[in-house]
Amino acid sequence: MNILPGQPMTRRTMLAGSSAAMVMASTHSFAAPQRLRAAPSTFPIVQDAPDTAVWAYDSRIPGPELRLTQGQRLTRMFENALPQASTIHWHGIRIDNAMDGVPKLTQDAVAPGETFQYDFEVPDAGTYWYHPHNRTWEQMARGLSGPLIVEERDPPEVDHDIPLLIDDWRLEKDGSSVADFGSMRDWSHAGRLGNFVTVNGATEFRKPVRARDRLGLRLINTPNARIYRGGLQGLKGWVVAFDGQPLEQLQPAGEFLLAPAQRMDLIVDVEDGVEEGVIYEIERGNRYVLASFPLEGGRRNVALPTLEPLAPNPVPSAKGYEPDITADLVMSGGAMGQMTHAILKGQKKPIRELVRDGMAWSFNGIAGMAETPLIEARTGQVIRMKIVNDTQWPHAIHLHGHHFQERHSNEVAGPFRDTIYFDRNQTREIMFVADNPGKWMLHCHMLEHAAAGMMAWIDVQA
Ligand code: C2O
Ligand code: CU
Repeated sequence: MNILPGQPMTRRTMLAGSSAAMVMASTHSFAAPQRLRAAPSTFPIVQDAPDTAVWAYDSRIPGPELRLTQGQRLTRMFENALPQASTIHWHGIRIDNAMDGVPKLTQDAVAPGETFQYDFEVPDAGTYWYHPHNRTWEQMARGLSGPLIVEERDPPEVDHDIPLLIDDWRLEKDGSSVADFGSMRDWSHAGRLGNFVTVNGATEFRKPVRARDRLGLRLINTPNARIYRGGLQGLKGWVVAFDGQPLEQLQPAGEFLLAPAQRMDLIVDVEDGVEEGVIYEIERGNRYVLASFPLEGGRRNVALPTLEPLAPNPVPSAKGYEPDITADLVMSGGAMGQMTHAILKGQKKPIRELVRDGMAWSFNGIAGMAETPLIEARTGQVIRMKIVNDTQWPHAIHLHGHHFQERHSNEVAGPFRDTIYFDRNQTREIMFVADNPGKWMLHCHMLEHAAAGMMAWIDVQA
């Protein structure tokens, strides 16, 4: 991973032998305001520096926790007090298309000073999140995103249920944002990577617990472009869901990779006899603390029962079906890539001109949103997609409105996901049932890549 030269990762705790972390009071609102307001604000990120100018939902970093029960309706009047147009996208929710928050495709962008009423049902339990979908690369880098938690009607018993929004920020030493949003270097390389990492807005996220407490940890990877590799220490248990969707079989919680926009739900018990439980990140061979759970006396005396897999959500599986539609999606472009030309707004252009127009990537030779959909399907059709990463960079491809499964050696298997990670030069196949009518985006969730060309859409006709 690139760290910008001259901007070392600062104020981060090395895992081995450090205990000087500050206690940060984490404030979660469980109140449910019926509006959600995006506006400029300030927030303390860098210690001993002035607060950072941010854009925030309801003046909070991250945005307020929206929590409801499966099957309920989420209703929020979005108020845009930003200096630019915005929308809210409810990432991972298999939503009514009109509520998906994609400018031009599903609604008009909400102008400064205007409002938009979001009102939809949440069909699936799990860990989701919300963020803008207009100039997303700038609006998210400035701080706009928040957790959306949908509880099961019969949730598993835990002592603490903690969403953990991991983010990174590109800041100067004085706490101000490095205002190079839209830098072509980021757009054609790995995206905007920050130099400060926060979890729920804190550079040292800490939550005191008791020995043997059971923790539900909902990891949400929200940066523009950063991939986290990490692991656990002093916490033993299971991965129970990816991208909101329960795993049929629990996986032992251990080392993990989280691409931008991906979620991972853990249910883990705090081990006896440790000083703290830790979620750490591995970077260049070093382990850094992302979140710590210090033991502050006391212990749970009745151990909780053995964990069972969570009840599945009503997501249709393509398993056992032949595809009605097959399609290829080939990613190309980026620094060190082979792309020489691409079609932009219907015109074939050489790479030099594309770059001048802010484009650096393409899907199937097309840079940016095409007039026509990548796939036209009728509701209920089964789609198989071969996705080829013909670039020298990793990507995280996200499909709106649906969850898909992977197909390995002719078998559809594995967890449902809404965002899939690709290593450089990797090819994978996904299958899904197009059961949700509407116009749905398919894009790289490395936001600079999306802005610089990696976006398409599929049309599911009613
Ligand atoms: Cu999380 Cu199209 O976005
Ligand atoms: Cu990408």
